[in-house]
Amino acid sequence: MENMAAKEKADHKTAPVRSLDYIQKPIASELETFRGHFRRHLDTDVFLLNRIIRYLMRMKGKQMRPLLVLLSAKICGGINDRSYVAATMIELLHTATLIHDDVVDNADQRRGFLSINKVWKNKASVLFGDFLLAKGLLVAVESNEFELLRVLSTAVKRMSEGELRQLKASKLQNMTEEKYYQIITEKTGSLLVACCECGAISASAVEAVRIRMQKIGHHIGIAFQVRDDLLDYSQSKTGKTSGNDILERKITLPFIAAINASSLLEQSKMRWLFRKKGKSAGDVEHIRDFVKQKGGLDYATKKMEEHAGKALILLNEFPDSDTRDKFSEFIRFVIYRKK
Ligand code: IPE
Ligand code: IPE
Ligand code: MG
Ligand code: MG
Repeated sequence: MENMAAKEKADHKTAPVRSLDYIQKPIASELETFRGHFRRHLDTDVFLLNRIIRYLMRMKGKQMRPLLVLLSAKICGGINDRSYVAATMIELLHTATLIHDDVVDNADQRRGFLSINKVWKNKASVLFGDFLLAKGLLVAVESNEFELLRVLSTAVKRMSEGELRQLKASKLQNMTEEKYYQIITEKTGSLLVACCECGAISASAVEAVRIRMQKIGHHIGIAFQVRDDLLDYSQSKTGKTSGNDILERKITLPFIAAINASSLLEQSKMRWLFRKKGKSAGDVEHIRDFVKQKGGLDYATKKMEEHAGKALILLNEFPDSDTRDKFSEFIRFVIYRKK
């Protein structure tokens, strides 16, 4: 087991990272079916809603969550109608929470477009997010999928708890590494756990497999958010404004790690700068340099790889198959993605 873990770790660091297209290929037609369901569930005859929805359709995201639902279903027995219900619900709920999140984070860009809150302002964004949230939950009700409804309403509740906890922590600026993991487990991990779990439920997996899938989702979720937080510190063209976390005074793992590696004097200087409202481009650069120089990026990368490694080990409890290979490529994509 130890050896296998070491080998897995070495492999996932040296092998080339596969594209999403490569990972999706074996289930390309299933993903098309999902997209059809997704579009259909967004039909409405309210004029303003239609305009926003048309805009939303152009700003398609990576659709990693539906892919994760389908991969999970497949590895647990097979994709079926219930898997599509889960994938559709999850992408709707994810989109709703992104729209709300952009209001909270005062974001300008999303998926390479102006964010909904920039085009239609905060009020319409909040209401539109509510609409998508309701739509997402209704998908389950319409199909009498109460088990999926229970899992996903719980996930959405935990996501809101995480976002609220983050809001409070960033006000107080008293973030610790432990609190950070708690927040990201809730705000991001809970939906990725739900992807894996709902995939398993749709394939009627036995309890032990379902629990394994939850754990895999948990580690993917943490790795996913750490990667997102690292990307915010990079110059990568993510389709979102880079450095927004620094501007919005959102403390994430790279900064926490850099602070932990600093003298008390440096800590108070950098905390003061981080708290500053209306930072200049120079301030943001200064914080970036500090975090890099203190090893904050390396530390976060290491933690991210540890979680991906744990997910890979759990995944290897499934018998060898093409789906398992694609699933592990998915995990590698999560941590090496550029957007
Ligand atoms: C963004 O998620 C929100 C986070 C949890 C970091 P994605 O990076 O999956 O967003 P899209 O759907 O591809 O735009
Ligand atoms: C994740 O956090 C947001 C949600 C879970 C809704 P972020 O605020 O870092 O996500 P991005 O960077 O805006 O996509
Ligand atoms: Mg945000
Ligand atoms: Mg982010």
